[in-house]
Amino acid sequence: MSDILTRQQQQADESRRDFLYYATAGAAVVTTGAAIWPLIDSMNPSADVSALAVVDIDLEGVEPGSRITLKWKGKPVFIDHRTEERIAQARADDDAPMIDPEPDAERVQRPEWLVVIGVCTHLGCIPLGQGGSDPTGDWNGWFCPCHGSHYDTSGRIRKGPAPRNLDVPPYEFVSDTLVKIG
Ligand code: FES
Repeated sequence: MSDILTRQQQQADESRRDFLYYATAGAAVVTTGAAIWPLIDSMNPSADVSALAVVDIDLEGVEPGSRITLKWKGKPVFIDHRTEERIAQARADDDAPMIDPEPDAERVQRPEWLVVIGVCTHLGCIPLGQGGSDPTGDWNGWFCPCHGSHYDTSGRIRKGPAPRNLDVPPYEFVSDTLVKIG
């Protein structure tokens, strides 16, 4: 019995370590069930060991124009609280020539929230654009400096060697601000 409890405790501890933010720009809180964990702002290598299948995040306090990064299944997930301007940029380009054509509306559940996996679809680098002073590429989205891929405000690949848009993970809005990823 005590072994079981110890194992459960270890799993819980590993889960906690996986709730890492390594870039924040707001007051989002990662939650699981009723538990709320404070944000931790360092990239702890031990966090890579375990990977939660489901992460809940409360986006209240993430201001329009802010982008946050969280970790899900060991990968960065970018959440962009898009401004009207970013939404308009994405939608205005729906019919533009694209490497991987996809209307913006099919990439978001709510126009103001873009949720994508922050892994370049070329060779897997993490694109820049989450930090306030990062380059965001020619389309004001994300820029992958590894080989020069530019993503737009919908996370669609617009220029460079990446073959696909940034992937959209499975997610759902549980309430106005609470999102379940996974
Ligand atoms: S990995 Fe992003 S452009 Fe090559």
